[in-house]
Formats: sequence, C-alpha cells, structure tokens
Amino acid sequence: MRGAAAKMPTETVSSPTTEADFTLSNYKIPDTALPEFKDMPFEDIEELQLDHPGANDQEYRKRRGYIASLSKRFRETSEIIDVDYTDDEQAIWRHVASKLEVLHQKHASPFYLKAKRDLGITNDRIPQLSAMSRRLTETTGFRLAPIEGLVDTRAFLSWLSYRVMLSTQYIRHTSRPDYTPEPDIVHEIIGHQPMFTNPAFADYSQFVGHGARIANDKQIEELGRLYWFTVEFGLVQHEGEVKAYGAGLLSSFGELEHAFSDNVERRPFDLEQVINHDYTYSDMQPVLYVIPSYAELKEVTKKYIETFQ
Ligand SMILES: [Fe+2]
Repeated sequence: MRGAAAKMPTETVSSPTTEADFTLSNYKIPDTALPEFKDMPFEDIEELQLDHPGANDQEYRKRRGYIASLSKRFRETSEIIDVDYTDDEQAIWRHVASKLEVLHQKHASPFYLKAKRDLGITNDRIPQLSAMSRRLTETTGFRLAPIEGLVDTRAFLSWLSYRVMLSTQYIRHTSRPDYTPEPDIVHEIIGHQPMFTNPAFADYSQFVGHGARIANDKQIEELGRLYWFTVEFGLVQHEGEVKAYGAGLLSSFGELEHAFSDNVERRPFDLEQVINHDYTYSDMQPVLYVIPSYAELKEVTKKYIETFQ
C-alpha cells in the first residue's frame, strides 16, 4: 500500500485546534490540555475509494462502515471503542503480519524490531487501538485517536503537535491481503506504532505537528513531503547498513522489497532537498532518503520549524 493517514497534496483548511500555544519544548501534554476530539473536522474524511478491492462487496462496505462509526463515536466520548474482529479479519492479519515479519527481520531498523516486540504486537491477533494507545502513552506520551479515513494534511499533522496520531481501525479486503489503497489497521499498527515509542522520533513528529499549525500554504506542502519521506518512507543508517523505519515501507511487502532494490536511489537525507521533492502518491518511490539518526532528524527539523512565521 502507499497510503498515509494524510492526503497529499492538499488544500489548506483551518487547523483542528484553536488558541493553543505554540512551543517546541512542550513535550508533556496532559489530558486537560488536549483539544476536544469532537472538534476534529470530519466533513472532509475520504470515503471508500472506487478502486478499493472491497468497493463492490456490500458486506465489506457495511463492516467497514460499522467500524468507521466507532471512530465517530470516539469523537463524542474520547473513549476508544474496541473492535470485535471476526475470524476472517484475524486471518487476514495473521497472513499479512507473518509475511511482513520475514521481511522485517531483513530490512527493518533495529529500534523498530525491538519496539514491535516490546509493544506486544504479534502475528496472532489484531491489537486493539485502546491497548496500543495506553502503551504509547506510558513510553513517549503519544496517544492514538481512531479516525474513519484520510483527512487533509494540515488537520492530520496538526494533531501530532499534541502527540496524537490519528489511526484507522478497519482492515483491508480479504481478496487482496497484500494490498490496500488506504491506511488500515495493519498499516497503523505494524507500520506506525513501534516508531512512536522512540523518544527522538516522537519529538520529531511533534515538531512537524507544531509546524503544521503555523505553516503557510507553501510550508504545509513542505511538511507533507517531509512527513512522506520520513514517517512513511524513511530509511536510516545503522552500523553501516541502511534499514527501514517508514510505515509505508514496513507495512507493505512490495514497497519494502522495492526500497532495497536496484530500482531505488537511496540518498543521504537533506532537509532542503526533501521538502522540495515532489512525489506521486500512487507510484513506487524512485528516490528515498536515508537519515543518519533519529536524533539528527529531530534537530534539523527543529531548526527548520523555528524559521516558520
Ligand atoms: Fe501512514
């Protein structure tokens, strides 16, 4: 899959938050400081796409709609509702997770591999967002908030400034377990969750979120590209080897194998290049960027965000 939980490029809409102070050092976000989830804009949430493998399967559409409705309820109550995943849904997870696991052992960053184990993510069962969110909060103060589909870049990224990651709960269609055109629970949990337990990566994500709240239209596009080439498709140096930490890579066999093939140019990370690098959402990426470390990514991004306004 190529989906991020952010649609890019995008038109500018107002931030989901209002009146909040902008600061790059506000790492501790108590519950009382969170904006109301019911203020989360939802009129722009993308519905099931016509090219989705489940688009003509009425049962699938109904099930996806039901799970999406739980996300809508979350916005009223701020309580994540667990999904009683069916045997078929669990079977899709087992298939995809175990197949990805083999590739992860070869290509995933060591931090990711350890974090996935520590979070208790297994190939056997689909984890619940509620449990994952609790574990993240214990480690880096990040939280998960269920969302029923893609939202625009500014709204999506802005929530990161509160250490909130919007996350879908439904799973891909059974006819194509290896593919999904939209973020699903496999992408969110296997792709994204482990890296949010990394303190430098979590801070970095928050910086991007802060930036999104004050960015002008040009800057929001730059941030969209930065997010894309790091959080979704990032590579990192590790003891002389290149490893994957981006969720779009770690949740897709095709993307992950492609990233380490001869068809990809793996360039050293350069912020200026990345924020100006246009990409096609639906294509395999011909160029990827390798960061020297998560700490370096955090520092260079902090300086960049400080130039905003
Ligand atoms: Fe994503």
